[in-house]
Amino acid sequence: MVELSSLAYVVFEVGDLAAWESFAKDVVGFQLDQPVSGGGLALRMDKYAYRILLQPGARDDLVTAGWEVPTEAELVAFVAQAREAGAGVTENPGLAKVRGVEKLYVCEDPNGFTHEFFFGPTILPISRPFVSSVLSGSGFVTGALGVGHILPVSRDYATSLTFYQNVLKLRVSDYIRQEIAPDIAVDATFFHSSTGRHHSLATAQFPSQKILNHIMVEYADMNDVGLAYDRVRRAGIPLVLELGHHPNDQMFSFYVQTPSGFAMEIGSGGIVIDDSKWCVVNYSQLSDWGHRRVSEPS
Ligand SMILES: [Fe+2]
Repeated sequence: MVELSSLAYVVFEVGDLAAWESFAKDVVGFQLDQPVSGGGLALRMDKYAYRILLQPGARDDLVTAGWEVPTEAELVAFVAQAREAGAGVTENPGLAKVRGVEKLYVCEDPNGFTHEFFFGPTILPISRPFVSSVLSGSGFVTGALGVGHILPVSRDYATSLTFYQNVLKLRVSDYIRQEIAPDIAVDATFFHSSTGRHHSLATAQFPSQKILNHIMVEYADMNDVGLAYDRVRRAGIPLVLELGHHPNDQMFSFYVQTPSGFAMEIGSGGIVIDDSKWCVVNYSQLSDWGHRRVSEPS
């Protein structure tokens, strides 16, 4: 079986590009750049030409998740597997040019966005190193682990889990089932790809206006989380969840509202899974401490 290496990039369609520009650069610490091709804005986190693409448009939501595979042979084998599992996967050479990758295939997710599978991303020269205007120096945790993780909301939980396991061939990391009120339980499944970031994708089913509940980006230095928290507070940007700690990926993080309305989790300390030793468990709460809704009383 061929597995996806990492969630290398995501594409958002955003209504207010100017608001995203200052949020991305001055608050979170991305480096702004021009996309390889076309309009919008590229957000850099490392030597990749981009990790997040912002396209102007009215959806204010996730449009694409881009998954990297190391070689052309593995990409072709992965696509054959996905087709065998029943997915409609099509090659798109034009889009490969736009994304700046060697070869690219596209398929629909059951929750209203697309997946792109590719090999051969564009890497920038050392004369154009990643530079953040606000981060303390150690930057983002990306590389082989990819951009971070996304939590798309399931329209139908069972269908989504089948798709992520059978078509994307993602491995289950663990589950969290928490009763948040009598007879109301949150049921979430977390998935990892072969390079082992605890989860590159998680999903749960709950009422939501957006496809994307949140994207997570990770800093190498925990102090950068605190410094970002201070910048968010100073800028008066709405927090979604206060600082806290997740039991499964061990992420110390907070959640802030992006200019598109979905949340961005900003964290540090996430674990990397070694599949030879991993044991799937079921956690009973989403957070060990904190992650209090800002509207909740303390
Ligand atoms: Fe998260």
